[in-house]
Amino acid sequence: MLLELAGNRRVLFIGGKGGVGKTTVSAATALAQAQAGRRVLLVSTDPAHNLGHLWGRPVGPRPVSLAEGLDGLELDPQTAVEQHLSEVGAALRKLMPAHLAGEVDKHMSLSRDAPGMHEAALLERIAETVDNGLHDYDLLVFDTAPSGHTARLMALPEMMAAWTEGLMRRRERSAGFGAVLRNLGGDDRGFGESLLGREPGDSPEDRDSQVRRLLDRRRHRFTQLREVLGDANRCAFIIVLAAERLPVLESIELHAQLQRSGVDVAALVVNKRSPADAGAFLAERRVQEESYLDELRLVLGHLPIQQLPLLASDVQGPPALQAFAELLAARS
Ligand SMILES: Nc1ncnc2c1ncn2[C@@H]1O[C@H](COP(=O)(O)OP(=O)(O)OP(=O)(O)O)[C@@H](O)[C@H]1O
Ligand SMILES: [Mg+2]
Repeated sequence: MLLELAGNRRVLFIGGKGGVGKTTVSAATALAQAQAGRRVLLVSTDPAHNLGHLWGRPVGPRPVSLAEGLDGLELDPQTAVEQHLSEVGAALRKLMPAHLAGEVDKHMSLSRDAPGMHEAALLERIAETVDNGLHDYDLLVFDTAPSGHTARLMALPEMMAAWTEGLMRRRERSAGFGAVLRNLGGDDRGFGESLLGREPGDSPEDRDSQVRRLLDRRRHRFTQLREVLGDANRCAFIIVLAAERLPVLESIELHAQLQRSGVDVAALVVNKRSPADAGAFLAERRVQEESYLDELRLVLGHLPIQQLPLLASDVQGPPALQAFAELLAARS
């Protein structure tokens, strides 16, 4: 079911509570799709970063090859924040008169700890990854951080697009760049990247059109991300969970939060199901799991559910991932 669903989408987001198997399911799905002949990019947005550990090789902010047809990268929120601040700082310093350099520095240092900075910086990188990735790959698989964080992230594109829109309108009304700077508040990430090439002495018109182009591109990215997230034909959000009380409750809550943000959840993956035939202890657990699954079906019974067995050992390294991918295919 999961592989079938992945097979006709361009973007998958895999979310759920901590430790339920998001990274494992994301990686195995990506591997299976690459082996089916698609060009796949596996992206981790989790600050804890376990793609490298899972694949037994370093994975960083640039795509590296994990298998034939499969690349991986890790987006690090802290690096994203630093990258944005240094780009923005450099660009603003170029744009502003020299005597305001101190103001720029103050603005930048306040921005670093502004509420929502990490999420917004990460979202900007996700938007950029979707923007570029859709050109270079057939499928993008996002392994997201545990629940609450992801739900907030999914609500952001709307806000960021609206914010950029508002900034553009204010800019149109205001005469100078100083007004824009004052309007930026703590939120000018990504502002700098394409301004870096600008030479001092450009005319105000050049400056205006550069700022406009930049804001336009930024708004385009967020609007596109919003469109992709809301388009069930191109994008699917999958919730992974264990058949236990808290993961079931959290998955129901995550589903509701995603619905509120206009993100359609396409399926549930219930991982680590206890076997029925491996002794009385696990058989009893399995019965208990059934009762939690009944609760899940009561609320989310309209969604397809794929179940995966608890394995005797952790899934680590390419051979174990290969076996897990085959399990995904077999249980479809
Ligand atoms: N079906 C399974 N059977 C046995 N072990 C599993 C199974 N699925 C995942 N694991 C193991 O469970 C642990 C957690 O899995 P994973 O890292 O994929 O979860 P996660 O949801 O990404 O966690 P986090 O929220 O910390 O990112 C790993 O050690 C993984 O190898
Ligand atoms: Mg993980």
